[in-house]
Amino acid sequence: MKTHLYLKFLIIILLAGCRPEIDEIIKPSIIPKPLSQEIGTGYFIFNHDVTIISEPELQEVSNYFNLYLKENYNFKLSNNNSTKKITFKIDDSINNDEGYELNVSKNDITIKSKYIKGAFYAVQSLLQLLPITSVSDSIKIPCIKIKDHPRFKYRGLHLDVGRHFFSVDFIKKYIDLMARLKMNTFHWHLTEDQGWRIEIKKYPKLQEIAAYRKETLVGHYNDQPHQFDGKPYGGFYTQEQIKEVVAYAKTRQITIIPEIEMPGHSQAAIAAYPELGCSGKQVEVATKWGVFDEVYCPKESTFKFLEDVIDEVVALFPGKYIHIGGDEAPKTNWKNCAHCQKLIKKEGLKDEHGLQSYFIARMEKYINTKGKQIIGWDEILEGGLAPNATVMSWRGTSGAVQAAKEGHDVILTPGSHCYFDHYQSENENEPLAIGGFLPLEKVYHFNPIPEELTEEESKYVLGAQGNVWTEYMQNEKQVEYMAFPRAVALSEVVWSSPEHKNYSDFINRLEQYQKRLDQLEVNYANHIYSVKGELINSKGNLAYQLSTTSSSYPIYYSTDKSFPSQLYSTPITVDTSMHIKAVVLDSKKTALGAIFEQEINLHKGVGVSIAIDKEPHPAYNAGGKDALINGISGNNKRYGDREWLGFSGEDIEITIEFDKPTNINSIATRFFNGNGQWIYPPKKVTVYINNDIRTYVADVSVTNDLTTKFAIKFKSTTVTSIRLKIPSYGIIPEGKQGAGHKPWTFIDEIIIK
Ligand code: ACM
Ligand code: ZN
Repeated sequence: MKTHLYLKFLIIILLAGCRPEIDEIIKPSIIPKPLSQEIGTGYFIFNHDVTIISEPELQEVSNYFNLYLKENYNFKLSNNNSTKKITFKIDDSINNDEGYELNVSKNDITIKSKYIKGAFYAVQSLLQLLPITSVSDSIKIPCIKIKDHPRFKYRGLHLDVGRHFFSVDFIKKYIDLMARLKMNTFHWHLTEDQGWRIEIKKYPKLQEIAAYRKETLVGHYNDQPHQFDGKPYGGFYTQEQIKEVVAYAKTRQITIIPEIEMPGHSQAAIAAYPELGCSGKQVEVATKWGVFDEVYCPKESTFKFLEDVIDEVVALFPGKYIHIGGDEAPKTNWKNCAHCQKLIKKEGLKDEHGLQSYFIARMEKYINTKGKQIIGWDEILEGGLAPNATVMSWRGTSGAVQAAKEGHDVILTPGSHCYFDHYQSENENEPLAIGGFLPLEKVYHFNPIPEELTEEESKYVLGAQGNVWTEYMQNEKQVEYMAFPRAVALSEVVWSSPEHKNYSDFINRLEQYQKRLDQLEVNYANHIYSVKGELINSKGNLAYQLSTTSSSYPIYYSTDKSFPSQLYSTPITVDTSMHIKAVVLDSKKTALGAIFEQEINLHKGVGVSIAIDKEPHPAYNAGGKDALINGISGNNKRYGDREWLGFSGEDIEITIEFDKPTNINSIATRFFNGNGQWIYPPKKVTVYINNDIRTYVADVSVTNDLTTKFAIKFKSTTVTSIRLKIPSYGIIPEGKQGAGHKPWTFIDEIIIK
């Protein structure tokens, strides 16, 4: 007997020797930041000997917590009346419906909330106090007191499954990731020109025809000519799958808002049932992106179709809202349709905008009879807002301002801060995206309350939402890349109080949070270790400054295209052309982010004086006029960086003056081509050298590339000044997007040799 005990003891000691008894304690770094948290001394040790007690209303959450412990740490909490307890309690004195208190002391963890939602959020905070992985049988949790509730009651994330279609498993993962951030609304964009994704039993052709397109555009919409992959693409969710997702979301305290687009973005439905359109002509499910003229014709039979669809939709989604779209509905077909024109007259409507308003108001009335409210994109304001509608403001915030002033609820999703389909880094190698630039920091600093609203009016702001349009997200990994970590930043926008927000503190917590995302196999965009560079000109002395968002690890660099091996401490002197490479390395010299590369071309124009007779548009003037002669060329794929300057429809004249007579023999620059975004190169450029003594006129030939080069070469000449006259392209031709308007001109570095 004695020997046995001794042996057992020895085994325990041996085991303890190779396994740490307790994991390292984790520094509280909860996202979104709680309203108040007081870190105490000591810690609660979690092991198998902890009892879990819950009031019946909160049992679902305590089960969720128990399951999480089992799945992630192989822990099963007992019910053995141990002195160490975790208790879930209802507390009516907590005066926010989603609020909670979490109290971790040495022997107890107590969670109090008024409703189940609060308890769920308390658990989410608690999970972020647990170590990311555990190697032991005990987990240490720091003693802490948290009192918390959200700033906004609408905390949303959207997903477009029309342009690309994603599996039920992925939708659940997306919902899970939202829940961890205390988001409460999933906006499921289910119908589009390129695909109808929800089973409607009464209309089988929606499944047979509208859910599939014959092929898909390859590359960017701006790449001309358009090319297609030739592969059929599509899919839809069955009603059983939708019920499964709705039930799953409910256990994560997430409400799903289905979006059924009308009257626009409905080409797929019209392809299945051509009689829903004005002309009745057969169209195909769209194969490229954009806005299409095929919209629903407001006939009685169309309303019957939509009401039938709504009947099946409301039976699947228990939430309060149905999103009816309303955005980007061209009025072309309505203008040419006898029925539409007759209806305008009969109803005494002003025009086609009045007809859109009639359409939405009529559908609202129907949806209201089902006990549901509508949400629409801000176009539903045009021609008059439906009486009970909530507005989702995406074209800036003016829609939100107008709707709130009219006493309607609003949700903020402006493109400038909430469109997660925009680029998030200036890195040339960033995966293809629709355009724009929305870095993490800009999302973090978003304030959903527009300045124009009074305190009383701002009560109509329900919250904000990140939109994930998937034209350029072909698979689930790319959706994760675009949505995270920007959704993490947004969670703090909608939950945390603005006084407690601090970007560098957020980045420190995000570093921890990203490790949790690694654990969950989320392909987030890790830009906190990306290197950024800036050329600084101090009294004619040029230097290149490097920085990263997180300062936890050092930057290494090289100037000769070799792997970065020199430790960066001060800006790099630029006294010749060079190719800078830089990267953040950890202590094992492993790269933590992508390698940053910058070519610096120290041509003869760098640092001389430049004047432009027009101001660039404020949205495209990040680098100022000196960006045209700083030795750095703009991005080859995008114009929204600090190097390209954008002018809206104007003829421009650029004057460059040299400090001393300088020998030159070439001048070159390039212009951006983005016909889809109304961007055209000029047709010609006139160059004057030395006050018109020599003049060169050169045609700018339009290429099919994203940029058009302009270059002139001449015999070496001594110059003191040069002038470039760059007329705007003119008027955008018929048949192109923006036809009849003046286009943009975007110009890059002017390279003088
Ligand atoms: C939208 O982005 N068309 C709402
Ligand atoms: Zn019509």
